[in-house]
Amino acid sequence: DRPEDMETRSPVVTIMGHVDHGKTSLLDAIRNANVVSGEAGGITQHIGAYQVEKNGQKITFIDTPGHAAFTAMRARGAQATDIAILVVAADDSVMPQTIESISHAKAAGVPIIVAINKIDKPSADPQKVRTQLLQHEVFVESMGGEVLDVEVSATKGTNLDKLLEAILLQAEVLDLKANANRTAEGVIIEAKLDKGRGSVATVLVQTGTLLVGDIVVAGNEWGRVRALVTDRGDHIKEALPSTPVEILGLQGTPQAGDRFAVVDNEAKAREITEYRQRKARDKAAARHAGQRGSLEHMMSQ
Ligand code: GTP
Ligand code: NA
Ligand code: MG
Repeated sequence: DRPEDMETRSPVVTIMGHVDHGKTSLLDAIRNANVVSGEAGGITQHIGAYQVEKNGQKITFIDTPGHAAFTAMRARGAQATDIAILVVAADDSVMPQTIESISHAKAAGVPIIVAINKIDKPSADPQKVRTQLLQHEVFVESMGGEVLDVEVSATKGTNLDKLLEAILLQAEVLDLKANANRTAEGVIIEAKLDKGRGSVATVLVQTGTLLVGDIVVAGNEWGRVRALVTDRGDHIKEALPSTPVEILGLQGTPQAGDRFAVVDNEAKAREITEYRQRKARDKAAARHAGQRGSLEHMMSQ
């Protein structure tokens, strides 16, 4: 990509944190507060990711159980996230999965924004959270560091705007860019087989523009894009970088974390996926042979 082709794209955010610290509540609260009601096809549906708009700028939230998805994608070498929101409940403070989340974000080189949640609770102690985070080398601004932190309440809806502003500020620092004027590439967020619609894959377009009619290779699967559906249920003709969108038309279901790319024609798509499927079969066969071998070895002892 030439530098002059690179355009600003919206940030992609994942929410992580300890169990029950309020990840789902926060995602739901942000989404509900920012859904434009009365919009065409405005019924929101769960597609594993959604976009909100703040001050005319978009933010993409990956809505799958943050931690697990993040880890699965990282294990497959896919990096979908620009910013990690670390949710820490102010009454519970830093816990084992908080620490794990910090290591994941740091290993991936993804900046953290701390959402100190449940500040509505009488037992909330946000200052304790900040102090404990120091021990894990997360230095928030008031502690002399550069990590943004926002006190929120997911259930009361407190300071959600501040959190979105912090995300946009962090995105500006990151100076996120992509080339929209090329064939699309990105990552599979989740995929399933739907009785009525066939294979449904939620993807994140990371570069280029994905179009209805494109031929897509996704992991070991391929297909021609029959429809693109947003988290609002809208059918769209094209999806720009940082857009999460459902693809209909794949012939199988790829895995979360698989990469996808648009190819020139069906013959090429077949060739690539047949090769990949053969390799996957060979690998499985080798694994079975290995297991059989060690079983025979054990029996002969
Ligand atoms: P897991 O996905 O199970 O790890 O949990 P989670 O992090 O998604 O937490 P979840 O959103 O399910 O919230 C856990 C509990 O905390 C629920 O009972 C929520 O109602 C409650 N909760 C979440 N946010 C807040 C908050 O801001 N204030 C209060 N008082 N309770 C909250
Ligand atoms: Na929970
Ligand atoms: Mg949850």
